[in-house]
Amino acid sequence: MPEEELLKIEELSKHFGGVYAVSGVSLDVRKGGIWGLVGPNGSGKSTLFNTILGLYRPDGGCIYFNGRKINNLSSHQIYGLGIVNSFQVPRLFFQMSVMDNMLVAARGHQGDGLFNSLFLRGGWQSQERELIDRALEFIELVELGKMVFALAGELSGGQRKLLELARGLMAKPRLLLLDEPAAGVNPVVGKKIFQKLQTLSKNGTTFFVVEHRLEILFNFASWVYVMDRGKMVTQGQPEKIVDDPAFYQAYLGAE
Ligand SMILES: Nc1ncnc2c1ncn2[C@@H]1O[C@H](COP(=O)(O)OP(=O)(O)OP(=O)(O)O)[C@@H](O)[C@H]1O
Ligand SMILES: [Mg+2]
Repeated sequence: MPEEELLKIEELSKHFGGVYAVSGVSLDVRKGGIWGLVGPNGSGKSTLFNTILGLYRPDGGCIYFNGRKINNLSSHQIYGLGIVNSFQVPRLFFQMSVMDNMLVAARGHQGDGLFNSLFLRGGWQSQERELIDRALEFIELVELGKMVFALAGELSGGQRKLLELARGLMAKPRLLLLDEPAAGVNPVVGKKIFQKLQTLSKNGTTFFVVEHRLEILFNFASWVYVMDRGKMVTQGQPEKIVDDPAFYQAYLGAE
């Protein structure tokens, strides 16, 4: 069975004044699994993600999602097509419970506005049974079941990362872009986060992940893209990339 193409990028460029943050980048992400994007600091990974998400207008090139050109769409429209970034939803509210954070994440992009998300609480009980059930499912999945009513501010750093992931899932993404999901957590939690992604990827969500913790990412990604100074310098299966001189050059050249 041919693998289905989900995201296709052709010769994408994004400049900031004289800085060529992304320069002529092409890549494909096919349906399913975990796709990695790595490269040293400042190589253009976050800029690439933000351009895919419609937060930046490209200066050149094309982005296709499910065969449809999306680079002239608004970030809201792109979100509606199912490309989601877990940090695109409102940030964690530390004074709110885990559950309320999940519900706000789901509503934040439904055109309700933050005020309604936060204060029209009667809606939680009546129309939103399905939303609550989905929130509970993802809270369980990231093993925060005992913390449903705890304040987000009481969670550990690792638990907050897991909650961020769960919030991203509330949007029912087809493609979830994650920028450093394992940053700042201990290796055990980092591995656990990637194990969750692997489980979820079997249920139809595709993940495209920027991660500096290569030792974790390379154990889970099926394909890895390597950027250096705005350009895509190499790509391949993780076990092959580690023998690729272009991969080392990207990191050594950055020193
Ligand atoms: N909004 C912006 N305005 C001006 N320059 C920017 C902007 N965003 C990024 N840059 C520049 O573009 C280049 C790529 O930055 P980007 O944040 O995409 O790199 P990155 O690969 O995500 O790095 P890191 O691994 O540190 O997160 C850098 O030189 C950065 O300084
Ligand atoms: Mg970045």
